[in-house]
Amino acid sequence: MFFLLLLAVTLVGYLPRTQAKASLQHAARATNVQANLGTTFISTDQGGWVSFSLNVVGSGTNAGDLYFHMEGSATKEWIAIGIGEEMQNALMFVVYADHTGHGVTLSPRLSTGHNEPSYTGSKNVTLLTDANLPNRITNSIYSVSALCKNCTKWALGSLDLSSTSAPFIYALGPDGNMDSYSPSADLRRHTVFGNFNMNMGLATSDQSRLPTVSKTEIGATQKGSPRVDHDYAILVHAIVMCVAFVLIMPFGVVLLRVLETVRWHAWNQALAALLVVLGTAIGIYWSGTYNRSKKYNSAHQIIGIILVVAVIIQLSLGFFHHRYYKKHARPTLMGRIHRYLGPAVLFFGIVNGGTGLDFTGNATAGYVAAYVVVVVVVALLVGGAIFMKMRQQRRKKASTGGDEGGFYRVQGNGNEGSNIGLKPLSRD
Ligand code: HEM
Ligand code: HEM
Ligand SMILES: *[C@@H]1O[C@H](CO)[C@@H](O)[C@H](O)[C@H]1NC(C)=O
Ligand SMILES: *[C@@H]1O[C@H](CO)[C@@H](O)[C@H](O)[C@H]1NC(C)=O
Repeated sequence: MFFLLLLAVTLVGYLPRTQAKASLQHAARATNVQANLGTTFISTDQGGWVSFSLNVVGSGTNAGDLYFHMEGSATKEWIAIGIGEEMQNALMFVVYADHTGHGVTLSPRLSTGHNEPSYTGSKNVTLLTDANLPNRITNSIYSVSALCKNCTKWALGSLDLSSTSAPFIYALGPDGNMDSYSPSADLRRHTVFGNFNMNMGLATSDQSRLPTVSKTEIGATQKGSPRVDHDYAILVHAIVMCVAFVLIMPFGVVLLRVLETVRWHAWNQALAALLVVLGTAIGIYWSGTYNRSKKYNSAHQIIGIILVVAVIIQLSLGFFHHRYYKKHARPTLMGRIHRYLGPAVLFFGIVNGGTGLDFTGNATAGYVAAYVVVVVVVALLVGGAIFMKMRQQRRKKASTGGDEGGFYRVQGNGNEGSNIGLKPLSRD
């Protein structure tokens, strides 16, 4: 008796782990009176999974019609299946939560390579309602049944019905919720992807109906191992840009105003500018990846490009003003522009970090809070240091009664000719 109880407890303890695929069972039960129809692929659980059952009409007037059912983790922003060897030229079915949060959107898409697939209106894909297989999210599991009319051929490729190992791909989006009814909604990059093969002999029948949704794999095999994927390039872009604008450039202000070294100010800002150019190169390279960034019409990219140009101008202005000042010891228009463009570049650079987070859809409250905290701390430190310096100089001025060492006066630390000529500027 005790052992039976122990066994029961063990089984109950095991339940949550098997729950993910349990929903496949109710469907199997509904159809197991008939022989199995079609094939089923179930991906291994990589913190999320996807399953795909397929029945292709092989002959008759409806030949080439794809009846399929997909399930998978709704904790993922999206799940997808593609027909093809790789992303390039594949016909993909991407599933995500609709605007209500529990309905599903099925988006047929085409991809030309390692970039976000775009919605295609060229294929007639309709959701099929089946009492046993509702098109919705239940217990954090997506469930979608659909018909893709005449879908064994598409603009970029085809599905060979005579193949015993036709190539397919699958992928899972990052954690999140799309909440979108639009079939062309923006996708973030996958966190897991993989390949599998299906036996088209088994997948093909003369029946125009949904396949059996089996709880085990039938006629399908995973090819290679699933791969975990990271969007490192954009992370590097974000880090390089934010470090340049939020840390290095403000430090350059401290070097000039508080530590009063023009030379190190110049080197420091040159380093920041170099990082900005590098970060921009990464940004431009990856802009072709996403539909939202392809056309360069986002605030993030436009402000970003203007900023890079401004940073290069700012650096040149500083350099040429300094050269002129060393020779003639006179203020210049270049110096004056440098004086006002600098803070503007800093301000918009910091703002653009925020638009970047918003752009990728990665702007979780945590990210935004961390960014704001860092910006505020840096602003307080830099502002505080300059304030102290000003007060110290005002005192010095009051005690000597002279005109020496005004706030904008840069002493040059003994380097002859390193005075950037800011003192005269502050006076006009
Ligand atoms: C925003 C959308 C997407 C982006 C930016 C994207 C980007 C990429 C990139 C950069 C790679 C190369 C990764 C590497 O080699 O390390 C890749 C590979 C792959 N992706 Fe995507 N992808 C997207 C959507 C999808 C979707 C919807 C699928 C679904 C079927 C998918 C399936 C795959 C597969 C199977 C591979 C490996 C095979 C290959 O190299 O094509 N991807 N993707
Ligand atoms: C002041 C300059 C810039 C800063 C501070 C900045 C910062 C950022 C940040 C924080 C992200 C979000 C990264 C993430 O969520 O993982 C991002 C994304 C991005 N940025 Fe920038 N960036 C700047 C300039 C640019 C420029 C000049 C371009 C290109 C023209 C660019 C293109 C992109 C692209 C394509 C993305 C990814 C979009 C996506 O994944 O949907 N950025 N940037
Ligand atoms: C798409 O397919 C459905 C189901 O067969 C059909 O009722 C509908 O008329 C088709 N629509 C178009 C535009 O071909
Ligand atoms: C099926 O699709 C192919 C390729 O998109 C097209 O050439 C063909 O005319 C279509 N057949 C029917 C019956 O619509």
